[in-house]
Amino acid sequence: MKEYLTLAETADLVGKSKETLRRWDKEGILNAVREPVSNYRVYRKSDVQLLLGSMFDEVIEDEVSNYVKPNYEYSVLELFAGAGGLGIGLEKAGIKCVALNEIDKWACETLRTNRPNWNVLEGDIKDFDFSEYRNKVDVVTGGFPCQAFSYAGKKLGLNDARGTLFYEFARVVQEVNPAICIGENVRGLLSHEKGKTLQGMISILDEIGYRVVPVQVLKAIHYRVPQKRERLILVGIRKDIEVDFHYPKPHKRIYNLEDALKKGSLFDSDVPKSNGAKYPEYKKKVLDMIPPKGYWRDLPEDLQKEYMGGSFYLGGGKTGMARRIGWDEPSLTLTCSPAQKQTERCHPEETRPFTVREYARIQTFPDEWKFAGSLAQQYKQIGNAVPVNLGQEVGYAVVKFLNEYYNSKTVKSKNTYLLAK
Ligand SMILES: C[S@@+](CC[C@H](N)C(=O)[O-])C[C@H]1O[C@@H](n2cnc3c(N)ncnc32)[C@H](O)[C@@H]1O
Repeated sequence: MKEYLTLAETADLVGKSKETLRRWDKEGILNAVREPVSNYRVYRKSDVQLLLGSMFDEVIEDEVSNYVKPNYEYSVLELFAGAGGLGIGLEKAGIKCVALNEIDKWACETLRTNRPNWNVLEGDIKDFDFSEYRNKVDVVTGGFPCQAFSYAGKKLGLNDARGTLFYEFARVVQEVNPAICIGENVRGLLSHEKGKTLQGMISILDEIGYRVVPVQVLKAIHYRVPQKRERLILVGIRKDIEVDFHYPKPHKRIYNLEDALKKGSLFDSDVPKSNGAKYPEYKKKVLDMIPPKGYWRDLPEDLQKEYMGGSFYLGGGKTGMARRIGWDEPSLTLTCSPAQKQTERCHPEETRPFTVREYARIQTFPDEWKFAGSLAQQYKQIGNAVPVNLGQEVGYAVVKFLNEYYNSKTVKSKNTYLLAK
């Protein structure tokens, strides 16, 4: 068994940058030591586990609240709606979904089953004209899949983006003319095509009349989600509006797997029983040897090499491989298929992937929210979603913005606006 962790592995495990770890070393929060054989600076695994325990065990009083009451009835058009993670989050913040577009038939079935009154527009976004919603919704949101643009000139224009799903997002924003639009995406968008893709999106939104607020990547663990997921948020404000948008404040309390699956302050009952995927026999045998919070490094060396194959020699921490989650830490980001190679997130006590309802809990979906389709389809919908609680916190930030907007002198009153609806 390995006794030491590299700087990269430790950074990954504690969810901090290498710079922070170097500072922690100087400040005595977590001291690096010299590995006896190689003389490299490493961390004692026991020290890291102790620190993780104290970071996540401690129940920190959380005085942070982003809650704000909507002054009016606000509405959203949700594009690329999936199984409704963002939709429910916004609804919980008090923003009504007037329509949702989604191409996947099982995700649409999920939306219709749970919210028979939601207007689910099933099909390819390219085939829909949304002009009937012009000036009738406050927000347009969408988690458009990330695609490369082909660059003709220096600055990307709306027409250059034709054929991409971001183009469709921007086209709908232009058609509907909301006060604010919100795109959500993976952190990878920051570095996609060396940042040019994101720059292109910002210049297109600017061209169609929206100024983009400095982009932020929100960590779900700071927004009442027991999972280390991150989401990039792209906020555009219609240029005639002078009100600023402020991202939701991060909460102090970090929830862990126990909070997700057991009765406590996040859920008022234990997770309901449900179906779940299984590991193939060989993977189960390997994972049986991993302790909670452990990963492939906890295997005997010959098995490490066998299990990791070529990856063993590639370097890097790969702390997500053959990983068993501990009760007292947040889950690592859930993927769209729970038994997939290289991203195992094993249950802490049983050697199996999380069940569908456990998956849903870690994404903070309510237990009543049903998922349609086969087991694989259900996992995919959950794994694709914006965590509901993160969506709710972003929703509060939108409500705060809209309250200020409608209270400002730029509009006569939201009531006259509502009459137009
Ligand atoms: C990242 S997921 C969105 C998750 C959703 N916001 C949630 O919180 O549950 C992206 C969604 O876009 C949908 N999608 C992809 N291409 C589409 C298209 N051409 N038209 C409509 N929806 C599409 C996918 O089926 C997928 O459900």
